[in-house]
Amino acid sequence: MKKRIFITRKIPAEIKSGLEQDFNVEMWEEEHIPVPIRILEEKISQCDGLFCLLTEQIDAQLLEKAKSLKVISNMAVGFNNIDVETATKHGIAVTNTPGVLTETTADLTFALLMATARRIPEAEQYLRSGEWETWSPMLLTGQDIWGTTLGLIGLGRIGTAVVKRAKGFGMKVIYTSRTQKPEVEKQLEITYKPLDDLLQRADFICVMTPYTKETENLISTEQFNLMKSNAILINTARGGIVNEEALVEAIQTKKIWGAGLDVFESEPISKDDPLLQLPNVVTLPHIGSASIQTRMRMARLAAENVKKVLLEEDCHYILNPNYKNGAMYR
Ligand code: DGY
Repeated sequence: MKKRIFITRKIPAEIKSGLEQDFNVEMWEEEHIPVPIRILEEKISQCDGLFCLLTEQIDAQLLEKAKSLKVISNMAVGFNNIDVETATKHGIAVTNTPGVLTETTADLTFALLMATARRIPEAEQYLRSGEWETWSPMLLTGQDIWGTTLGLIGLGRIGTAVVKRAKGFGMKVIYTSRTQKPEVEKQLEITYKPLDDLLQRADFICVMTPYTKETENLISTEQFNLMKSNAILINTARGGIVNEEALVEAIQTKKIWGAGLDVFESEPISKDDPLLQLPNVVTLPHIGSASIQTRMRMARLAAENVKKVLLEEDCHYILNPNYKNGAMYR
């Protein structure tokens, strides 16, 4: 009998049909509505493979029901939505999709940085609403990008790709991360700084680190207090790394100049969230990796991951620390 896969959202037909050659595939057919928890609970108790998105919280309670599940394939590089530790205890492999979205997410990070610094959404809105009457010296003036200092919190794949873009704009780049990376520093001509030091020096601060227990609320009141008054915070990683209440306060009291956010503590952000009322804040609906080509690559890789684990082939994107040759080892 063929193994069963459940896909938690509508994905491109060609990727689904690729999986149907080897498996019994069921899919939640909606594109913009997440699968209800009741259905997810039912499906997870029946399937061998789960293809899911970052919108699904795969926690210990849900994993209790996953009696035959062998693999959870997340169509994202971030995997804070999955309790990997509990999955490991249950012998379930967890996979993600790194690499294929690096350059696309770096593009969006830089686009957001530029849009925030130069007030592009606000300027466009100003023109469309018919308010534009004449060129004037200080109309819609923003912050310079060239010649400024970019501070990266985290220097993984996407962070490194952002450095290359920043260098093209004549920016000086400093970074902080858990481990200093002397080779990368030399190669990219960037400098390591402890977090507090970086926050005091940077004109742009980009959050590029994974969301973990250690990075939750990493940027809060104490950190905003260290930043320059012209500083712009950019977050395309995960919302929970930045304390949003502290961010609102930092902008309202002009401790910092602005923020560009693609991610939020809670997604979708509520329509009456104070962040949406602030000037100098550009907000996007978590579209860092959203190019047609990259989303296809992510879906293809997530499908390949679920397939490889179920067919007991070598899979390079398994996140469980103790998974080897198709099995957990202790
Ligand atoms: C990820 O992959 O983690 C992004 O947030 C969505 O592309």
